[in-house]
Amino acid sequence: MHNIKVNLHLNNYEIRIGSGLLEKASEALSDLGFNGKLVIITNPVVKVLYGDMLRADLEAAGFDASVLIVPEGEDFKSLEQAGKLFLGLNEIHAERTTPILAVGGGVMGDLAGFVSATYMRGVPLVQIPTTLLSQVDSSIGGKVAVNHGRLKNNIGAFYQPKMVITDVSTLKTLPEKEMNNGLAEAIKYGIICDKGLFQIIESEIERIKSFDERILTEVICRCAGIKAKIVEKDEKDTGLRNILNYGHTIGHAIETVSDFRVSHGQAVSIGMVTAGLISLKMGFLSDSDLNRIEAVLIKSALPVKIPGLDIDDLMQALKHDKKKKEGKIRFILPKSIGEVFFSDEASTALIEQVLREMNEETEDLRQHYRK
Ligand SMILES: NC(=O)c1ccc[n+]([C@@H]2O[C@H](COP(=O)([O-])OP(=O)(O)OC[C@H]3O[C@@H](n4cnc5c(N)ncnc54)[C@H](O)[C@@H]3O)[C@@H](O)[C@H]2O)c1
Ligand SMILES: [Zn+2]
Repeated sequence: MHNIKVNLHLNNYEIRIGSGLLEKASEALSDLGFNGKLVIITNPVVKVLYGDMLRADLEAAGFDASVLIVPEGEDFKSLEQAGKLFLGLNEIHAERTTPILAVGGGVMGDLAGFVSATYMRGVPLVQIPTTLLSQVDSSIGGKVAVNHGRLKNNIGAFYQPKMVITDVSTLKTLPEKEMNNGLAEAIKYGIICDKGLFQIIESEIERIKSFDERILTEVICRCAGIKAKIVEKDEKDTGLRNILNYGHTIGHAIETVSDFRVSHGQAVSIGMVTAGLISLKMGFLSDSDLNRIEAVLIKSALPVKIPGLDIDDLMQALKHDKKKKEGKIRFILPKSIGEVFFSDEASTALIEQVLREMNEETEDLRQHYRK
């Protein structure tokens, strides 16, 4: 088992990473000093795959484990669903000291995390992420949130977990598209600050995609370590933490304009290449580095072109992005693999030109995104 520490001002916690950790989660929870009642929040898919096993281990170790089920999907990462969970917690007499275990992907982590942050003004939270994206990204750093109408991720809190238990073996059941979404974020970490990680993904992509646990564990540990270090330096996202948004400025615009037919990981992949091309045209990134970025994304079965979207709509969405400052669009641009910088120097004309260059309206691509 690997152990990464997140050292924060008022809140230190461990990220435990390894294989088979879920079936002995009771040990980790006992290490935290928990006993008695606790609550698992999960969805029907993850409950069958892992929730039942987790509960059996907890019950065998003497815990009194209740399970609250949230229907599958991002639509249920909502204020309304949080309200239902508050009532569910009240019904089973959860108290201020009753830990909540968020078991599943980022949707579950964000929703159960939000509920933990607000039920009785805060109950202990343990993140048990089961998707690659949640293991490398969303379970770490304490951002919890729900969506409300047009407000995506905007109703939330900074609320750190007491521990993150990352069982790499849960990824074996993950659908390929979800694996790819997580890979986009892992590649992002390489580009923003870890050339070695990028090289590992480049050379080991086949083994990663065939769930080689050793290499997957190494990738997850490196990503989690990077996120932990960034969050330690800028917990509340006022500066450095923003570099995690590389590929996301354009990515979010693509998600919005495509009406979320393009998934988050796919959109970030396209966004990373687009930001790379902007950087190249501004004279920062080299041709060969951009080619390497593109190649590793293609090898990961991620898209690298905008799938025939309306460029005016994309520009409009970019201008509304919350990362815009004083009327200028602010990007995180790669300088080389392993180094990025903030820039609001890209002119609107250049951004639009690059978006048009990247836009490839082929029927083939449309079919791809419809899945
Ligand atoms: N809080 C943060 O810092 C942060 C960062 C990035 C993303 N997010 C949020 O994370 C969410 C996306 O998370 P995600 O990509 O994990 O998606 P997700 O939670 O929707 O999970 C993807 C799918 O995989 C299924 N699943 C989960 N684990 C599985 C397993 N082991 N085997 C088989 N199927 C499994 C889920 O039921 C779901 O259908 C978004 O809501 C996004 O806003 C939050
Ligand atoms: Zn992301």
